[in-house]
Amino acid sequence: MKQKDIKILAIETSCDETSAAVVGNGRDVFSNIISSQISSHKQFGGVVPELASRMHIEKIDEVIAQAMTEANCTFQDLSAIAVTYGPGLVGALLVGVAEAKALAYALNLPLIPVHHISGHIAANYIEDKQLEPPFLCLVVSGGHTHLVKTDDYGEYTILGKTRDDAIGEAFDKIAREVGLGYPGGPKIDKTAKLGNEDAIVFPKAYLEEGSYDFSFSGVKSAVINYMHRARQKGESICREDLVASFQKAVTDVVIEKTMQAADQYQIKKIAMAGGVAANSRLRQEMEKACAQRGYSLNVPSLVYCTDNAAMIGAAAYYEYLRGNFADLDLNAVPNLKLDDMRE
Ligand code: KG4
Ligand code: ZN
Repeated sequence: MKQKDIKILAIETSCDETSAAVVGNGRDVFSNIISSQISSHKQFGGVVPELASRMHIEKIDEVIAQAMTEANCTFQDLSAIAVTYGPGLVGALLVGVAEAKALAYALNLPLIPVHHISGHIAANYIEDKQLEPPFLCLVVSGGHTHLVKTDDYGEYTILGKTRDDAIGEAFDKIAREVGLGYPGGPKIDKTAKLGNEDAIVFPKAYLEEGSYDFSFSGVKSAVINYMHRARQKGESICREDLVASFQKAVTDVVIEKTMQAADQYQIKKIAMAGGVAANSRLRQEMEKACAQRGYSLNVPSLVYCTDNAAMIGAAAYYEYLRGNFADLDLNAVPNLKLDDMRE
């Protein structure tokens, strides 16, 4: 039962975004400040962990101050401080965790530990204020590819996950191979629009019958081998066709597996989460697949797909209602699993 408005200050520093947000009752975003480090990591072709930690330290206070100002909020208006404590880069996570602990201690407020993936899934509650569990969620990000049954707020059954690379990692690696640079996902998305996705047939890994696990290393190697072969033969490569065909191969698999799981578990509510859920082909084709079967589809708007603190504030609200608070000895857990959440 909602007694009063619960405003939570949420902090997210698990990778290369320093973000703070003020979220009301898990659904209303009063502010969501995101300071991206992309331009600094770009020159290295990917996220440099040490650099990420240092930049979080430099930015965190300013980002929190901005989030409070934009939300027109004082510390006295807050009910709790929430923070991503895993998974992610340990040095990066620690900056947010230390900051959140200091604030919770100084303000005498509860400290809410949030799982990064639970945050990504909760981004859907911001977008659709009526959405309630249970629903099936395809989590596709730079570090994770999970097909998850959201049984209740913050309660998940993992139906499948990647056995090798995360889907976003595959996007980023292929983008680097074809010279599109970092971050690869958005660049492939844009370039693929100019290509023919049926030009090259790349393998799709469905794995064993009935498995909801994923594998992207095969298609990644197939794309790289295709490029090497073409180079050896002196043939030119149409980069637009290549990335469009790659994008089709990986997105078709995740859509098909999501539909199979929805059919098997008879879940008619589908959602997507994570940075790769920003992919326009994935959004379009998933929409079509859901419409054909009469399933509903929730996808967060782009800003809530990639890393942001508002999603952490959304997930934190439901932890607040359960009284899931951390002590001040909370530590960063870089390899935190979604199944570890309630242990
Ligand atoms: O969720 P996120 O911001 O960070 C993690 O938690 O990993 O996801 C980042 C990933 C990167 O791999 C990035 O290339 C990918 O999301 N991404 C996209 C698109 N926008 C971001 N991939 C495909 N298409 C996009 N439009
Ligand atoms: Zn993320």
